[in-house]
Amino acid sequence: MITDIVIGLQHGDEGKGKVTHHLLKSGEYTHCVRFNGGCNAGHTIYHDGVRLVTHHIPAGVFFGVTSVIGNGCVIDPVKLFEEINYLEAHGISAREHLKIARNAHIITAFHKDEDGKDTEIGTTRTGNGPAYRDKYNRSGVRAGDIPELEPFLVDIYQELSGDTVILMEGAQGFWLDPDWGDYPYVTSSHTGTAAAIQNGINPRSIRNVWGVIKAYETYVGKRGFQPSDPVFDQIQHAGSEFGATTGRVRQCNWISMRHIKQAIDMNGVNNLVVNKLDVLREVEAWKTTDNHFQDEVGFRAYLQNELGNSMGIQKIYFSDNPYNFDEENPLTAAA
Ligand code: IMP
Ligand code: MG
Repeated sequence: MITDIVIGLQHGDEGKGKVTHHLLKSGEYTHCVRFNGGCNAGHTIYHDGVRLVTHHIPAGVFFGVTSVIGNGCVIDPVKLFEEINYLEAHGISAREHLKIARNAHIITAFHKDEDGKDTEIGTTRTGNGPAYRDKYNRSGVRAGDIPELEPFLVDIYQELSGDTVILMEGAQGFWLDPDWGDYPYVTSSHTGTAAAIQNGINPRSIRNVWGVIKAYETYVGKRGFQPSDPVFDQIQHAGSEFGATTGRVRQCNWISMRHIKQAIDMNGVNNLVVNKLDVLREVEAWKTTDNHFQDEVGFRAYLQNELGNSMGIQKIYFSDNPYNFDEENPLTAAA
């Protein structure tokens, strides 16, 4: 078992889907695993030039890689089958490559109904919180209890054991974690490296932890997040910052170096991807919450200095497009 992990270091929507999709192109992975969250997640992926949004299903299906919905996830079977059909309508054989951990939990109609009434937190109203509550209350329903899921069910430990190369595809971001985020404005499953391991992974098998951030931050929910400055509306517009699951406008702010450093540290991140530089280029503002820079060169150099070698990061990749990040170009992937 060799394991690589992709996680978000902000509040979700950092571009993890793009990074996962890009890494899968290497062809070395035997498995791609979703390890947390459910259909609250929305991963935007450009596959052969077509924009597709996944919620439950790991990006491995785009490359014929066995794709596992792990025990750390909660599954809405109605949404899952909709998503399978949606992907198959776009020529992706999702059904064939999909597996589901028998001990993953189920989002029921009751959970969706309850979460649908949320007005306090600004949840995605997809039933995730109530499903996790019932899991920990020991009153939940599991994938193994649902006859329609039977063809997909596996023991995830057995599935991932042996001569495997696994890509763990995280959902949400570290600052939405129930312990580390701004409680109660958090999601309901853990979002970091620890959560990935909990899905049948031998901790000693971890090779790379890819941390993903955007060049600015976004958050969707009831907490006040966006400072009052018209530049953030410009960023929202330029970055097309709408929730992939709910369509809600995402609040924007500059990146917080303190938060990113802590997230790198607590998750053992050794490769960092900085997405959406093109957006700051469009609004011509290069800032963090406590610093500002003349230009893009200054901004990049600062991130490189602050987050590079001293934090144990092997490489920082800068990306300025929705399709990929550049692994070869020494200008964008400084050592
Ligand atoms: P829940 O996960 O639906 O319970 O929502 C709790 C909080 O997490 C809300 O602020 C949501 O907007 C946020 N959230 C949940 N999933 C995602 C995601 O995939 N991206 C961004 N925010 C998310
Ligand atoms: Mg998203």
